[in-house]
Amino acid sequence: MHFRALNRIFTKFSFTNKCATALPTRSMACSRYEYVKSYEQDDKILPNVWIVIRIDGKKFHKFANAHKFEKPNDENALNVMNAAGIAVMEEFRDIVLGYGQSDEYSFVFRKDTSAFKRRAAKLLSYVTSMFTSSYVLSWSQWMQRPLSYAPCFDGRIVLYPSDENLRDYLSWRQADVHVNNLYNTAFWKLVLESGLTNQQAEERLRGTFSSDKNELLFQEFGINYNTLPAMYRKGTILLRKRVVMGSQDEQEKGRQAIVPIHEDLIGNEFWKQHTEILGKYVPGKYVVSSLNRHLERQLAKQLEKQATIAEI
Ligand code: GTP
Ligand code: MG
Repeated sequence: MHFRALNRIFTKFSFTNKCATALPTRSMACSRYEYVKSYEQDDKILPNVWIVIRIDGKKFHKFANAHKFEKPNDENALNVMNAAGIAVMEEFRDIVLGYGQSDEYSFVFRKDTSAFKRRAAKLLSYVTSMFTSSYVLSWSQWMQRPLSYAPCFDGRIVLYPSDENLRDYLSWRQADVHVNNLYNTAFWKLVLESGLTNQQAEERLRGTFSSDKNELLFQEFGINYNTLPAMYRKGTILLRKRVVMGSQDEQEKGRQAIVPIHEDLIGNEFWKQHTEILGKYVPGKYVVSSLNRHLERQLAKQLEKQATIAEI
């Protein structure tokens, strides 16, 4: 049958679209093209599962070189990532935890979230674009050189049915930081300080275990790997907390903010301390040590921003 004739029949008898099924009259608001809506697929996410959205920078090895990131870790660049992660969590209240490392961020939505009616494409595209625009907006707060081109991030949604699956997912990402960071720290020490070529450094590290790399760092460069900044070794965990600053009375209720912490989340201790993540979600209290000036400043900025938004 002729294609046009087929198409006419389909349009007239399509039963998934109310405009297409009714005989078109001039008084109706729907056009004869309306039936194309029926091609859109329902992408509602299953109920009662952990929704994890992970975004990842596109070709960040090139982006890092173009912007002269320090090797292997650029503290300021990581802070731009964290600022973007915080902005996403400020916007989407049902995210209970964010986890960032290198050029990636994972966001965990409450199992029972009804954000955007749990529509996958909406959730994924909003989070990815919010992260990207916030990354660009936060850039100049941390970086000296201007952005020379627009960064972009891909995004994916992964669903985890059990708490154990979710913990294993986060442990997997944190183990990844450990493996990569230990390797990269040793690699760049060999290249930048011992003058090896990239290839020679690669050969030197090929087939080595973690203990060998720890030993190499200690013997040749006097570095105890475990004393390197925790953000590099553990990544950044973002948690929603009621924050009490060092100068405040610890009995105070505290105001809600997103707190970046750099702890081990593989062991049980983390989950015992932050029971709200897997339990009924009520942000726990977080007392910020007055010794941690950096965190105090970051949180003060967040609270200031909240106050400004409230005033508008
Ligand atoms: P695609 O994700 O496949 O597009 O490639 P990619 O180049 O982004 O690689 P991948 O996501 O696997 O790894 C991230 C890369 O970002 C690292 O390999 C580094 O090259 C770079 N990167 C991330 N953080 C830093 C940093 O703090 N300093 C430096 N120098 N590079 C970083
Ligand atoms: Mg990447």
